[in-house]
Amino acid sequence: MPTTSTHPDVMEKLVSLCKRRGFIFQSSEIYGGTGSVWDYGPLGVELKRNLKDAWWRAMVYARDDIEGLDAAILMHPRTWEASGHLEGFTDPLVQCLGKCKRRWREDHVREEQLGAEDAEGEIVCPKCGGELTEPRQFNLMFKTHMGPVEESGTEVFLRPETAQGIFVNFKNVLSFARKKPPFGIAQIGKSFRNEITPGNFVFRMREFEQMEMEFFVPPDEAGRWHEHWMEQRMGWYTGLGIRPDHLRLREHGADELSHYSSATSDVEYLFPMGWSELEGVANRGDFDLTQHAKFSGEKLEYFDQSTGDRYVPYVIEPAAGVDRAMLAFMVDAYDVEEVEGRTRTVLRLHPRLAPNKAAVLPLVSKEGMPERAREVYESVKARMPAEFDEGGSIGKRYRRQDEIGTPWCITIDGETLEDGTVTLRDRDSLDQTRVPADDVAALLADRLAEPWTTPKLG
Ligand code: GAP
Repeated sequence: MPTTSTHPDVMEKLVSLCKRRGFIFQSSEIYGGTGSVWDYGPLGVELKRNLKDAWWRAMVYARDDIEGLDAAILMHPRTWEASGHLEGFTDPLVQCLGKCKRRWREDHVREEQLGAEDAEGEIVCPKCGGELTEPRQFNLMFKTHMGPVEESGTEVFLRPETAQGIFVNFKNVLSFARKKPPFGIAQIGKSFRNEITPGNFVFRMREFEQMEMEFFVPPDEAGRWHEHWMEQRMGWYTGLGIRPDHLRLREHGADELSHYSSATSDVEYLFPMGWSELEGVANRGDFDLTQHAKFSGEKLEYFDQSTGDRYVPYVIEPAAGVDRAMLAFMVDAYDVEEVEGRTRTVLRLHPRLAPNKAAVLPLVSKEGMPERAREVYESVKARMPAEFDEGGSIGKRYRRQDEIGTPWCITIDGETLEDGTVTLRDRDSLDQTRVPADDVAALLADRLAEPWTTPKLG
């Protein structure tokens, strides 16, 4: 199994590519930026949508046992008492008493300086070597006020996970969808965490998006479904092109488990900074439904009329981060190679994830080529996201499309005007074949539907 990502400086290179090519920008950049908050540009938003669509397809459309939901970000404040976030969603914060006065997560500093998060011994400020304060527990939830008067009764929180919106709607969905466990509720949406030490680009942010699914099962089936979802989720990433040897499952030790979980395994990806969590697959037991039942006074259970059984379902939760997944797919796709003495940077994204599926390029801006290219472009654009580009040398245009991960380039040249064929260039193999211009859109639609494996596997 590899221990480092293929390109050691890939993170730096990706940050620069993302800005240059319009994938991701620092938020509020003209004001100097907002710490660890990022904006998605024209290509980034497409990649992100494709990723979320792929998740929704796998979770909701491909199955009969999962329903979708879009719950509000602002929830009743009692939610966070019941869920345990008000008391327990904290990180240990230490501050430098030396020169720099920076704040750090104590467990991260311990891991870096002493080898383990809970190792005993003295730690110092990683920046200036100064003494550090005693740790204090810092709650990661952002607070705000609802209504015009700032008083404690109206204090609300920006949700730190989408999951709670699902638990409080358990009864609504159960009665609407006429489901019986095992069944799930899936949701994609923004979450907010006031992380002490965010960073590594979009890996750890303060505002991010999650794709979470809560799967409600009879308690005695929880172990089996936990296994099922770990396997499904690993398969989802590899099916979309992540190299299997850059992905692994890691079971949490007892001291790592969240307050709600009896067993969690992380899907980890080999990020440039090392193996790190991409997604958690947790067995939350009956913790959440029991807590919300207690705090709200509502019965949150399932009554099986055929057997007369009444029980609180257990919950298996695959919880993924959209931004983190996007980073993993980009890191895995990033490649640099020499072609005929020139360096080529290419994002080998799965065609279904790529922001543009095709680019239509007239070889020169004369002799009727742009007009013919426009016709081809319209036919392709009717079936998939595509781009028309007539500026600059053809080599430069190919390089730009490689860098943004466009799987196919269609070039209109002199031969097109004579025999009606175009050149179809494949991003990964660099094969160039001639195909009838009138067939190219249908041909690419077929290719898009085919299974794909990354050429990085060799
Ligand atoms: N409902 C369970 C839950 O929220 P989590 O492990 O805290 O579990 C799930 O979060 C996923 O959300 C993580 O695996 C990660 O992909 C993403 N995530 C969590 N915090 C994040 C942050 N600060 N920035 C970006 N993604 C984050």
